[in-house]
Amino acid sequence: MAIAYDPSRKTFYLEGDRFSYIFRVNEYGYLQQMHYGAKIGREDISYAAFQFWRGFAPAFPGAKNDWDSLDTMAAEYPGYGRGDFRRGALLTVDNQGRRTEDLKYRSHVIVREKPALTGMPSLRGGESLIVFLRSRTLDVELYYTVYERENALARRAVIKNRLDGDVRIQRVCALSLDLPDADYDMITLYGKYGGEGQIERVPLRHGLQTVYSCRGASSHQYNPFMALARKNADEHTGEAIGVSYIYSGNFEISAERTQFETVRVLAGFPSADFRYTVARGECFHTPEAVTVYSDAGLGRMSRAFHDLFRDRLINPVFAHTPRPVVFNSWESMGFDFDTEKLFAAIDACKDTGIELFVLDDGWFGKRDDDTRGLGDWRVNTKKLCGGLPPIIERCKVNGLKFGLWFEPEMVNPDSDLYRAHPDWCLRVPDVEPCLCRNQLVLDLTRSEVVEYLQNSVSSILQDNDIAYVKWDMNRHITDAYSAALPPDRQQEVCHRYILGLYELIGRLTEQFPHVLFEGCSGGGGRIDPGMLAYFPQHWASDNSDAIDRTRIQYGLSLCYPLSALTGHVSAVPNNQVGRVTPFATRGIVASNVSFGYELDLTDLSEEERNLMKRQIGDYKRIAPLIANGDLYRLKDPFTGNDFVFEIVSKDKNEAVVSFVQILGVFSVPIRRLRLQGLDEHKTYFVEETGLTLSGKTLMGLGLIMPCERGDFQAAVYHLTSKA
Ligand code: GLA
Repeated sequence: MAIAYDPSRKTFYLEGDRFSYIFRVNEYGYLQQMHYGAKIGREDISYAAFQFWRGFAPAFPGAKNDWDSLDTMAAEYPGYGRGDFRRGALLTVDNQGRRTEDLKYRSHVIVREKPALTGMPSLRGGESLIVFLRSRTLDVELYYTVYERENALARRAVIKNRLDGDVRIQRVCALSLDLPDADYDMITLYGKYGGEGQIERVPLRHGLQTVYSCRGASSHQYNPFMALARKNADEHTGEAIGVSYIYSGNFEISAERTQFETVRVLAGFPSADFRYTVARGECFHTPEAVTVYSDAGLGRMSRAFHDLFRDRLINPVFAHTPRPVVFNSWESMGFDFDTEKLFAAIDACKDTGIELFVLDDGWFGKRDDDTRGLGDWRVNTKKLCGGLPPIIERCKVNGLKFGLWFEPEMVNPDSDLYRAHPDWCLRVPDVEPCLCRNQLVLDLTRSEVVEYLQNSVSSILQDNDIAYVKWDMNRHITDAYSAALPPDRQQEVCHRYILGLYELIGRLTEQFPHVLFEGCSGGGGRIDPGMLAYFPQHWASDNSDAIDRTRIQYGLSLCYPLSALTGHVSAVPNNQVGRVTPFATRGIVASNVSFGYELDLTDLSEEERNLMKRQIGDYKRIAPLIANGDLYRLKDPFTGNDFVFEIVSKDKNEAVVSFVQILGVFSVPIRRLRLQGLDEHKTYFVEETGLTLSGKTLMGLGLIMPCERGDFQAAVYHLTSKA
């Protein structure tokens, strides 16, 4: 049993293999957090709730001591207005303007089957606890699910209005953590278009520090992820707590270091620009958030997230399956293609090992550039004579599956869809909406829009043999106003948009369970666990430069499994940054994630073509490791000149090590690279060196890294167990 309740101490014990999460109902009926960290006994730990007088901490009515204050207590789900001056998890306003609420324990239930969260993605399975709280106006339900092996704890809340009138939620979170000391660094993933997943590690300062999005999508700029790591924690040792929010829209994750050197962590909707009205008798469900506890550094935290998402979130049809090697038309052709040109590209894939040909943007409507056509999901038969069937047939003849690009959430003003339904996009009445990439955002809060998009996409998928869809989203939301909602519900638009999106992609992925959907938002603008529940892989960045990609993939791997990210070998000089890297290096970096090519194959030299075939062969060998293995990050390209990923199979019989030296180094030092995660009792053959060495030696002494001259050199080592 992962969850236990001791009625004599009114204490809840939630336990994974290596962590305990303990809270209690205190003598006043408040839920009080007691411990989150290393696994401890199910003992009486009430001594740890020790308090003494500290000024300016208001006592609540009925308090026995004047130091009994919510301001100094570790709360389980803090509100506002009753003396806790830290940022709270829930703030509501009733129809008389009253905001203060005392949330107190009523009852709880422990269930074997995790209760479903409808309309939003959540982790599957797991023993769960529901705690019922009540205030004057609200019933609040707190949901907890324990994933023992992954040392993860999922949490969410339901807010029920029990008043006669409306209650407006101004702020609501899925989880709140009150950690008893502040000896942590905060790690977040910031970024930009073309530069996602950048790691920032800073000491927690006093006050509130947040990552958030108000863009209507989780965003390139801040991923909905945060880790708190002990100051001495690194990749392999020390404590770390990772927080991931299973949601694709506006969010805020914050850490607040307080006057008393505690830390409060919150994950929920952003405090600015979120309001939601809950009518009498109705409920509001928060998304789910999940925390992972690691006592072996960031590496173990990431491996836990990877296992959790592969086993409990991603569509099981794809979760553990090596992904196909893709050719994508975008970087080499853009909008400039016709059937003949596509035939040539398809023919060039023959006998290379490429498995899937993806036709990117430009196949529909009058889409000859990015100024028109979005919304008109009909094949442009002027460009593609005979439509898609001849192209798909050509793929089949060459042993390839076929995939297609869509950007369903958007519309160009120059499109038949916009001309027919100008009110179907988000825009404020009498205000000219902002354009971005010449497009507007469709109003997915409206069921007729969701219906139209479902029909548009599904009719193409039904009429054609399509194995893969790339689902793009190339701008963020401005003018968040829906013609279908009353004025007092306009601040709900961004959340309702995401609910509409989940409805749409939920229906489509259910209707086409064997179509592999790849998420994209100008690269990695919407890589989040919410999208991952529907789309098993995501184009990590529009920046395909191998060196920038070492950092992007390294950063995103803090939370996301490698198979959930995609990387392609593209042309040099690189389209985005102009860098010239060796073909081999581009292949090694891209094959650390779900792999493909995005360059003119008709233009390759014989040598490159042969190298490409070998690269694809190598990728297919390691694809099961990418899909299922354990990642050890051995060299960090954010802090040094080298990048090294080691991926070890679960049975520890195989491993692959990828090494990239970013800049050439004069008189390069001899670098021993101690591996991790092997079985010290097994012996491994290191193919590239011809050596056979024990796991103990490989982990204790290591491999010698190559000493090549020149920038952007890379190498790969395959290890197979002899035992
Ligand atoms: C976005 C994607 C690219 C490509 C283009 C097509 O930028 O990230 O990969 O699909 O759109 O317009």
